[in-house]
Amino acid sequence: MKLIGLNREEVKRAFTEGLITIAVYGMGKMGLPLAAVFADHGANVIGVDINERVVEAINRGENHVKEEPGLDELVRKNVEAGRLKATTDGVWAAKQADVMVILVPTLTDERGNLKLESVYDVAEKISQGLERGDIVITEATMPPGTTESLIPILEKSGLKLGDFGLAHAPERTMTGTAIRDITGQYPKIVGANNEKTLEAVTGIYELINRKSVIPMSSIKAAEAVKVFEGIYRDVNIALANELAMWCEEHGLDALEVFQAANTQPYCHLHMPGAGVGGHCIPVYPWFVINLAKKTNPRLTKTAREINDSMPHHVVELTVKGLNEAGRPLKESNILVLGLTFRGGVREFMKAAAKPIIEELKEWGANVYAYDPLCTPEDAERFGAEWKEDFKDVDAIVITADHREFKELNLERIAEEVRSRVVVDGRNVVDAEKAKKHGFIYLRVGKI
Ligand SMILES: NC(=O)c1ccc[n+]([C@@H]2O[C@H](COP(=O)([O-])OP(=O)(O)OC[C@H]3O[C@@H](n4cnc5c(N)ncnc54)[C@H](O)[C@@H]3O)[C@@H](O)[C@H]2O)c1
Repeated sequence: MKLIGLNREEVKRAFTEGLITIAVYGMGKMGLPLAAVFADHGANVIGVDINERVVEAINRGENHVKEEPGLDELVRKNVEAGRLKATTDGVWAAKQADVMVILVPTLTDERGNLKLESVYDVAEKISQGLERGDIVITEATMPPGTTESLIPILEKSGLKLGDFGLAHAPERTMTGTAIRDITGQYPKIVGANNEKTLEAVTGIYELINRKSVIPMSSIKAAEAVKVFEGIYRDVNIALANELAMWCEEHGLDALEVFQAANTQPYCHLHMPGAGVGGHCIPVYPWFVINLAKKTNPRLTKTAREINDSMPHHVVELTVKGLNEAGRPLKESNILVLGLTFRGGVREFMKAAAKPIIEELKEWGANVYAYDPLCTPEDAERFGAEWKEDFKDVDAIVITADHREFKELNLERIAEEVRSRVVVDGRNVVDAEKAKKHGFIYLRVGKI
């Protein structure tokens, strides 16, 4: 059923009565939870992905996004009920659907150049199945202006914008909390090409999101919301990192200072650490930097530089700790704990461990690695040897805040290692406990 022209209450009714077909392009960490939530509210949902294994798994009722609590059940139940299926055929899905949601990766390369090929590929496919009254929604995080750059591609269908609707409704969530966030942790932001599309899209998101919808005056404004949220985090983490390094120089514990400062409501100092990774926070600043023409986004660029320099700082802390223990870095045995970019998620994009391992090796250290979510092959890809014990280790360098690392038995580890040095890049080890067991303990912001 086409939604343009319906008011939000009519949209909600049609949705729950199973009269709407939605195609979600990209069945990854964000797309599958969204598709399952749509289906669970009554829509007929077609998940589209280029990865055949992902499509086959979904059609068997299996969830492949293991980090997402509750998703196993939501996928199984809705596939069994016939409300959720998947395909690799994006044109066929567009022909069936009344609403098409684009949720494929939006990335940059190492130098910050935008890589939006998958978004344009999906738009091409949608254009071959687009019908009057359909609505195309981008949910992937977009450099502001990108959603509207799809108009010429979508108009290859022979329709004009207005015959079909276009909207941006960014995912405001994280891997591991997608279902919670989609269904009501934060309000949904929506910008659309006109009032009619905005009204219909508002109906969809009001239905699935208890925190309701914030309508924006334009698609571009909605895109900027999500990008700015990420930049806010990056810049503020960079500030925390800068002040943490200043604290190291001045014999202060940054966390003690930050925690006290943050009791004042205008101060929100973030957590300093070994670096900023993932597909989001280190990527979105480039969306603004690369699209700036007259403005020079100096602060955003500097923040990126500071955060990218943190792995090097962790190496410096490691050298310092080893020196205190009377060992040179060359030929020391370093165990890096954590290959993923953050705790609890098997995701490697811009993980701090990578540059840390590379630099330690350049200086002649023997580098080992362990991560509870990874395999020896993952360690090998990072250039380190897999190691599950602490025997003969000279320094432990923590680069991801996995739960298991918060529970390290330092008393036992102290007996196994050769030198007692802990460099805590994620604030997971209790400094007093480490000292009690004879460790030299260094944390970003406290040495
Ligand atoms: N992961 C997060 O925490 C998070 C949070 C908020 C926003 N986002 C944004 O959501 C978007 C998707 O991220 P994700 O984490 O789900 O990515 P992901 O890598 O987990 O999944 C992307 C999926 O898209 C598929 N895909 C790639 N190209 C395709 C194409 N041309 N056609 C169909 N399918 C294609 C891939 O096979 C994969 O299954 C990105 O824009 C990201 O910035 C991610």
